[in-house]
Amino acid sequence: MSKLKIEGNNCLTGTINVSGAKNSAVALLPAALLCKNSSKIYNVPKIRDIEYLIKILKILNCDYKINDNALEINTANLKNTPIPEELSEQMRASYYFMGSLLARFKKVEISFPGGCHIGARPIDLHIKGFKALGANVEIIKNKYIITAEKLHGARIYLDFPSVGATINLMLASSYAEGTTIIENAAREPEIVNVASFLISMGAKITGAGTNTIIIEGSEILDNGSTEVFPDRIEASTYIVLGALVGKDLKIKGFIKDHINSVLTKLNECGVKFKIQNDEITISKCKNLQTTDIKTEVFPGFPTDMQQVFTVLLAKANGISTVTETIYESRFKSAELINTMGGNMKIKDNVLTIHGPVELKGKELYIPDLRGGAALVLAALIADGTTYLDNITLLLRGYEDIVEKLQNVGAKIKIVE
Ligand code: EPZ
Repeated sequence: MSKLKIEGNNCLTGTINVSGAKNSAVALLPAALLCKNSSKIYNVPKIRDIEYLIKILKILNCDYKINDNALEINTANLKNTPIPEELSEQMRASYYFMGSLLARFKKVEISFPGGCHIGARPIDLHIKGFKALGANVEIIKNKYIITAEKLHGARIYLDFPSVGATINLMLASSYAEGTTIIENAAREPEIVNVASFLISMGAKITGAGTNTIIIEGSEILDNGSTEVFPDRIEASTYIVLGALVGKDLKIKGFIKDHINSVLTKLNECGVKFKIQNDEITISKCKNLQTTDIKTEVFPGFPTDMQQVFTVLLAKANGISTVTETIYESRFKSAELINTMGGNMKIKDNVLTIHGPVELKGKELYIPDLRGGAALVLAALIADGTTYLDNITLLLRGYEDIVEKLQNVGAKIKIVE
């Protein structure tokens, strides 16, 4: 089983280019099935989740062509094949095939989705929305069978502004007869990215990015074309790394408005940086201040950055707290960093971090995707060598992470 071998305490300098966003791309590929024939998606990150989604496209008899980060999909011969467990359980985003196949065929059969073990992660809001649109939902063993005579517009209120439910219901309502209004919708950039793709194929959608989205059902959608937004979580991850061990480290190709909450928290910690257009230059902060983080839906501090940010707070002078409001158990990486010398206490959904601490390299097992990123940063500031096992989880969401870090001087490599 291959592992990551990381030598710590190296100063990093050079430029890291940000890739396309995982959480946009994993929704755009299923969304392409709404096109009667062809669609194009640019800036697709080369990550494991995309590989799995392409396996599902193949099972559905889709034709596709990948040319570097550009993906062309043709659904003229699409077959509504049941999506098997060994694929649907590989990631959470497989559930987006529910919305697109239900819209196109009025029927979809798919096994339960997977995803990082960071909480219960039910999909009750998705199901409630499908039913509001006129669908019948059955669960047989661990499979969803969703059917509809006809899909009609509906007013759907989301009890929680769920990213997945918002996107899935935009997909499912695209061919519904009449108008669908999604209230208390999620406002994450991924929603805007998917809506712009649907609009490019002829959908009539307004309000994406606000908490009320209106979708007028269409007769036919085709010839979609879009570009995956830059990954705001990947960009933020490398920016935090720059504050830990950078020397004029440059991170290029992000959208500032997508990461303002992270930049604000870095300012509160006393971190200095320079931003020019879509490039930030950042160096190690020698006197890190404490701050308090509370994860929120967009535009608040993103839950996907919570674990990575705790590594910075472990080096701050004093006591910081992190309150995780989105998921029930997303502190596993903090427990592992404690075994490296961290001093973090968990009480309910609050993590109290005492710093600054010195971390020591260790052999660790990556617990989840973003926890894996946190362990990579911890290893890069630790004394000695760290080995990280279960790197498949990390490669799910960070394109070329080993090469990108090697290019700026990190002593990191994959070993058997
Ligand atoms: C997306 O997950 C992302 N995943 C997550 O990123 C991200 O953390 C999350 O949005 C919030 O930004 C993908 O886009 C593939 P939610 P999603 O529906 O859609 C509860 C990463 O590391 N909920 O907004 O699953 C749910 O349990 C991953 O890249 C319900 O209760 O997020 C969770 O506690 C991790 N019922 C909260 O809402 C539902 O029907 C947020 O879920 C749906 C969600």
